Amino acid sequence: MEAHIIDWLNLVVRWVHVIVGIAWIGASFYFVWLENNLDRSIKNADLAGELWAIHGGGIYHLQKYNLAPKTMPKHLHWFKWEAYSTWITGVLLLIVVFYSNADSYLLASQSVLSANTTIALGAASLVGGWLVYDLLCKSPLRQQPMVLGLVLMAALTLVAWGLSEVMSGRAAYIHVGAIIGTMMVGNVFFVIMPAQRDLVGAITAGRQPDPSKPKNALLRSRHNNYLTLPVVFIMISNHFPSTYGSGVNWLILLCLALISVAVRHYFNTRHQSQAYVWALPFAVLALMVMAYVTAPAKLSGAGKVADAEISQMMGQHCQSCHSANPTFVGFATAPAGVMLDDLTQLRQHSARVYQQAVATHIMPLANQTNMTEAERQQLGIWLASQTDN
Ligand code: HEC
Repeated sequence: MEAHIIDWLNLVVRWVHVIVGIAWIGASFYFVWLENNLDRSIKNADLAGELWAIHGGGIYHLQKYNLAPKTMPKHLHWFKWEAYSTWITGVLLLIVVFYSNADSYLLASQSVLSANTTIALGAASLVGGWLVYDLLCKSPLRQQPMVLGLVLMAALTLVAWGLSEVMSGRAAYIHVGAIIGTMMVGNVFFVIMPAQRDLVGAITAGRQPDPSKPKNALLRSRHNNYLTLPVVFIMISNHFPSTYGSGVNWLILLCLALISVAVRHYFNTRHQSQAYVWALPFAVLALMVMAYVTAPAKLSGAGKVADAEISQMMGQHCQSCHSANPTFVGFATAPAGVMLDDLTQLRQHSARVYQQAVATHIMPLANQTNMTEAERQQLGIWLASQTDN
């Protein structure tokens, strides 16, 4: 019963998380696009630029002020709850999915740390990540955005490697995503919103606003724009076992982050120049290299593996969870809809099983049923013999 309730909690929180996340990132993409596409040739000293657009059957005319209008409009729209609610639902998901069932989902199969220590480490990494990032942004490095970006990426890679030593691949990935997401929401909460409140407060009080704060807010908003792409990949990475399930999953994450930031940079600058157009072929090439490098190793050994041996293996290592009636605590139904009660069902899922239990060591979850490498090889040979027929 408890597992069933957790399933539904997971569904509801995840659904809301995706919806508010879309609202946040959609608005963020739109405003960065707006900023990059403003017509700045406009002859009006108060305005930084303007833009005309057509959407949904109507024509819009937007204007950006150099700093602020002389009087405040009656209705000024703020964008903050999209960010806050994405973060809140994200933390709830971490708890529902990873922390409430830490043995299965959070811990690396051979981790020396206890569940509670790993949870504390995960939570601390979110806070620590923000503190380090904020310090970097206030250090002299802020004058050199490229260097700051590289230092940040190196630090995150180190964290990804460290976490992957004590957490399962998917948990390590999600934590890196949550660390970056926390930086982004920290930018909104601690930098962008205070700057905007200061701006609005100054206009309302009739004093001259301090221009340095909005400038800093724009910079952090740009950081968020670049950080979005790696985060979105991480949030869908659970579908791609060849990334988080790899022995060098932290390196794969770094490569994907570099590719996505380069592509983002091209799209952000392409109206001013084509200097970064190389990012597109670079991304394609790099993805092909990664697909090649992550290809599963050849099976060692050959010969025939008896059906009976595989049936026994499924019983010993998989059916406690992957069955019409799972017996493993915490599972109300067969996870991912995969039932392995007989060999016909196993054949039906052969490609996915190969990916999860032979090419990578993702299954059995956290290797809770202690499957050996030799057994994985046997399973691989049997699966291959089924498709060859
Ligand atoms: C402790 C419980 C547990 C055991 C034991 C277990 N699994 Fe899983 N398995 C899961 C869970 C949970 C998921 C769903 C993961 C997710 O949310 O994507 C899953 C998902 C899968 C999937 C689907 C992945 C996809 O493509 O989406 C396959 C295939 C799979 N397991 C195969 C196996 C095999 C083969 C074994 C035995 C060698 C095994 N599992 C043992 C819990 C288990």
